[in-house]
Parts: sequence; C-alpha cells; structure tokens
Amino acid sequence: MGYKTKEWRNSMRVTLDYNNMMDKFLGDKGFSQKKLSSYHTAAVNAFNYVKENRGKDELYMGWTELPYNQKEIVADILATARTIRRKFKYFVVLGIGGSALGPIMAFNALCHLHYNDLPKSKRKGPKFYVEDNVDPVRMRDLLDVIEPEYTCFNVISKSGATSETMTQYLVILDLLTKAGVNVKDNVIFTTDEKKGNLKKISDELGGIKSYVLPDGVGGRFSELCPVGLLPAAVLGIDITGLLAGAAYMDYTCRFASPSKNPALMCAVLQVAAMNEGKNVGVMMPYSDNLKYLADWYCQLWAESLGKNETLDNKPCNVGQTPVKSLGVTDQHSQVQLYTEGPYDKVVTFLSLKKYGCEFLIPHGCENIPDVSFLGGHTMEELIQAENEATAYALTKAGRMNYTLWIPELNAFTLGQLLFLFELQTAYAGAMLNINTYNQPGVEEGKKATYALLGKSGYDAKKAELDSQPQKDAKYII
Ligand code: PA5
Repeated sequence: MGYKTKEWRNSMRVTLDYNNMMDKFLGDKGFSQKKLSSYHTAAVNAFNYVKENRGKDELYMGWTELPYNQKEIVADILATARTIRRKFKYFVVLGIGGSALGPIMAFNALCHLHYNDLPKSKRKGPKFYVEDNVDPVRMRDLLDVIEPEYTCFNVISKSGATSETMTQYLVILDLLTKAGVNVKDNVIFTTDEKKGNLKKISDELGGIKSYVLPDGVGGRFSELCPVGLLPAAVLGIDITGLLAGAAYMDYTCRFASPSKNPALMCAVLQVAAMNEGKNVGVMMPYSDNLKYLADWYCQLWAESLGKNETLDNKPCNVGQTPVKSLGVTDQHSQVQLYTEGPYDKVVTFLSLKKYGCEFLIPHGCENIPDVSFLGGHTMEELIQAENEATAYALTKAGRMNYTLWIPELNAFTLGQLLFLFELQTAYAGAMLNINTYNQPGVEEGKKATYALLGKSGYDAKKAELDSQPQKDAKYII
C-alpha cells in the first residue's frame, strides 16, 4: 500500500476497546470470557463465509474489492472533479438511501462544518447539496439558492427507477431545458453499467457522462465506489486516502479470530448482545463531524440485518434498531434513558483522540467557581472528559458500551471506519444466517405508492388498498 508511510498508517489505526462489555466492569450485566468464547465457532464460520464470497457480484459482495479495483476510475473521477470545481458554482446530488447517505456523511466528516457559508476563496469547490427527499418545500428552497446553469447535478440511482430520485431528475430536466442549458453539460449519472432507466435516458440523450455503480455493489455498501467518490472528490476530499484507509482496515481484519479482528469482534458483541435482548444499538460519536456517519451506519445496520427469513428459508425476525446519538449534545437528551431505562441497548462510542483544532477556554467569571473552573482548559479536554465520564456512568449503571478510538479524523481513518462497519455488518448477517444485501421489506410501500399515483400495472394493488376496512371515526380524535 503506497499511501504515506507505514509508521503514519499505523499511528492512524482505529482501535476497539470493549472492556465495558465485560463482566469485570459490568458485573452480571456483562459478558464473561466464556460467554464470548461460545460465539467463536459462529464467528469463524461468518469470517470464512465473507472471505470465500468476497467480490462475488451475484451475492452483492462486490464492495469488498472496491479499495483495490478502481485505479482507472479514481483517475477519471479526479480529472472530472477538477473540471467541476473550476466550472460550477453548485454541485447537487440527487439520490436517496444508499445513494445519498454516504455523500452526506463524507461531506460532513471531512469538510468545514459551515462549508457552504464560506467564501469561495476558502471553500475552493462548489457549494454542495444532497437532496434525499421529495418534500416540496425542500425542493423549492433548493431552487431558490442555486443557479441551474452554474450547477452540476449528479443523479445517483442504481435502478433509475426510484420515484424520489427520478422525480428530482424530472424537475431539474425541466429547469435546465427552460434555462436553455444542454442537459449533457450539467448532469452526471451514477448508475448501473448496462441496465436501468438512467442508462436508457443517457442513450436517448446521446450519452450523458456516467459513472458505474457496479453490479455487485448494493446502495448501502456503495460509498467507496463512484457514488461516494465523485462527490467527495468534488469537495476536495482525499479519495485515495479513503480507499487506502478501507484497505488498511481490511488488512487489520484479516484474522478469523474475533480477538484479533475488530470488525468480527464488533459483530460478535452485537449479536451476543441481541441474543440477550439488546434490541437497540446506539451509535454515539463525540464529534459533530461524525454526526452523519451515525446516520449512514443506521441505514447499513437496519436495512441489512432487519429480516424475517433465514438463508434456508426459515421464518425469523432478527435485527437491532440502530439509533444515532451525538455526544455531548444528546447527553442532555438521551443519556438519562440509556443509564436508567430498560437494559435493551448497546452504546458504541466513536471517540477522537485528537480533534481538528484546539480551542482554549478563556478565564473569566472568577467569582463563580461553577464557571471559572472551565477557564484554562481546552474544549478538546472538555469533550473528551465528557465522553469518558458518560462511558463511566453507563458502565457503573451496568450498561453495555464499547469505544472505537480514532486517532484523528481524516480520509484514511474515515475509510477505516466505513470498511469496519461494512465488514461488521457482513459478519453479523452471516452469524444471523440472513441475506444481508436485500431489502424486501421496503417493496410493499413502494408498490402501494405506485398504486396510489396510478402507475400502470398496479390496478390490483390499488384495489387491495381500496378494500381496506373503513377508518373508525372513534379512533380519530
Ligand atoms: O441500500 C439500498 O440498496 C437502498 O437504500 C438504495 O440505495 C435506495 O433505495 C436507492 O436505490 P437506487 O440507487 O436504485 O435509486
């Protein structure tokens, strides 16, 4: 791996501390070593399943190879991103779910928290928006702040059939056409190579610049392919570092034994906790930059593991409800519940050893000891102390929690986190013996929407909706 030096890479290693899951700290609320060891065989089997099926498109496991097989694509993306940064004032991603959460997450993680408000001289790239809803107010408000002729629209959809994304596409197509702009000049597609509606549209328009969302990569595992790489490169994010970080974590997780493989251990801890009724997984970064990593993780974990059928077609209802929580903000909102409410949660802390800047708290209010003790400390010290204190309080209350330690936030460490969570999800899915990569549970709602909007071929579904019992007035108050 040619990314920086070996010493630097090792100094940036993300590590897992799961002491606060164990009986030594939690008493009878924690795992004994014997308990964890009882998952060893299941963990090794999950590891082997993932290893044997790496890269298999038919199983949607193409994501495992993304850190290694995109040299030419990365070069193309970097060249395109340079042009976009020079040519456009705005860059708008149109997409939803796995086609949006990754770009939002990387933007928030690695760019200035008020990026769009910075002057162009500091921002350097275009203003950035990700539209992942069809709220009409949001669309109206977006159109109020961009100028279509100076906007590059990146339409991201594997299927090209997602109503939300295609609605947005129709809006901007109309907008560009009315503004006299050639769609080909302002639109980039990220979609399936051979099939799907965006491919058809591109062919009809004589070839829109398109990036491939590879066959074997599902939406929620797609951040490290052009779905995430193009928006990131447009923002000036070091995409080579992201991929290098992912490869580094892949290498870190090369062992079949959970005690040597952090992603596999995370999967074991979560599955073992689920089996003991921990139905809620809280992802709690102590960093505003990582707020949307928690969002991205929630989709990955929820959509991948929430299933009602095993791989051998037996009924089951598995999964764990992921919850995003932000340290320290949610200490003043959620932590009361985590500490004293039901014993149904595992908290994952994302903790930074070093923040992106130091901020000295000035001395003042010397006559008010409650306030003056803060002066002379740094904000980094304060947030870290609050993180440590919350972990301590949860542990003292017998609440399972563990920490992923991040030396500092950069493209390389973010790439590690993404790959760790993807591996963890793949291992957990294998341990639960479910299909990690499909999402049949969202189909019914999609079909009902089509029926309600009169899409052809959905008459039977419309009749089914119409045949629902009448709402009872006494339950509407
Ligand atoms: O993870 C997934 O597969 C989904 O969240 C999809 O990304 C989402 O439904 C959007 O699908 P598409 O890319 O086909 O528009």
